[in-house]
Amino acid sequence: MLTLSGVCKRYPTGDRALSDIELSLPRGQITALIGPSGAGKSTLIRCINRLVEPTSGSIRLDDTELTRLSGRELRRARRAMAMIFQEYALVDRLSVMENVLSGRLGHVGFWRSFLRRYPAKDVTEAFRLLERVGLSHALDKRADALSGGQRQRVGIARALVQSPQLLLIDEPTASLDPKTSRQIMRLIRELCAERRLAAIINIHDVALARQFADRVVGLRAGRIVFDGKPDELSAEILTTIYGEEDWDTQADHERDAPSKSKTQSHPALMSPISALAALSTGSTR
Ligand SMILES: Nc1ncnc2c1ncn2[C@@H]1O[C@H](COP(=O)(O)OP(=O)(O)OP(=O)(O)O)[C@@H](O)[C@H]1O
Ligand SMILES: [Mg+2]
Repeated sequence: MLTLSGVCKRYPTGDRALSDIELSLPRGQITALIGPSGAGKSTLIRCINRLVEPTSGSIRLDDTELTRLSGRELRRARRAMAMIFQEYALVDRLSVMENVLSGRLGHVGFWRSFLRRYPAKDVTEAFRLLERVGLSHALDKRADALSGGQRQRVGIARALVQSPQLLLIDEPTASLDPKTSRQIMRLIRELCAERRLAAIINIHDVALARQFADRVVGLRAGRIVFDGKPDELSAEILTTIYGEEDWDTQADHERDAPSKSKTQSHPALMSPISALAALSTGSTR
């Protein structure tokens, strides 16, 4: 459904954020994109919806070459790709319902949404989605009166009211507690299954990626260094993606014995659980 081929991005500052990315996503698949800070995860998902212009390469959504589109055609293609941000990006002074309906902006046009005259079917769908994400009791609440988890649920409902084929999700759980994070990931997973949506989720929490994604892609310094199933994520592969130094320090806490020998601190010798715990707490944010 989505195919990236030879995608490169060099920022005007000279930073080479992506090199020769080859990636193909089928409908309905949830892909977790993991990698250290600065690896290019956000750049990659932003290139897909052209919030960032790739320097070269091809990005196809079904039969449409996204890199060649502009103006109206680009706007139309963007409707098929809904983005969910870490910062939730809600309008604080608007109600939950209005925030969700703003997801229809690309469909109903500026004036209609400015005047808050959404078609009845959009309002019905927004109700249905808010019920689905567990917020039917909070329709009239202002967005700034919600908790982080609730705000993320609004962000998800707003993305889905757009009727996308693809979800681009940047660190959906970065500011959430562990339980809420799992609930949000489970919700995303269920909604993708119900609607056969493909999703790319940038995530620092490797344990969540393992549990909720169908596929994991590891980026390091702008290159894909791993592409496989979550249960293939061995400590060795995690080292390839993240490097050793970040978690050697953590390994010091994890070890029972105080020995400092090089082999003992190697992540491959940590139990998978402690390796993952080390990584998930090693988030740079
Ligand atoms: N607007 C920009 N201008 C110049 N360089 C940028 C810009 N945005 C990102 N970069 C650079 O591109 C590289 C990749 O950044 P990106 O934000 O995609 O990484 P990331 O994997 O999302 O990191 P994080 O996990 O911290 O969010 C970094 O070297 C970064 O400094
Ligand atoms: Mg990022």
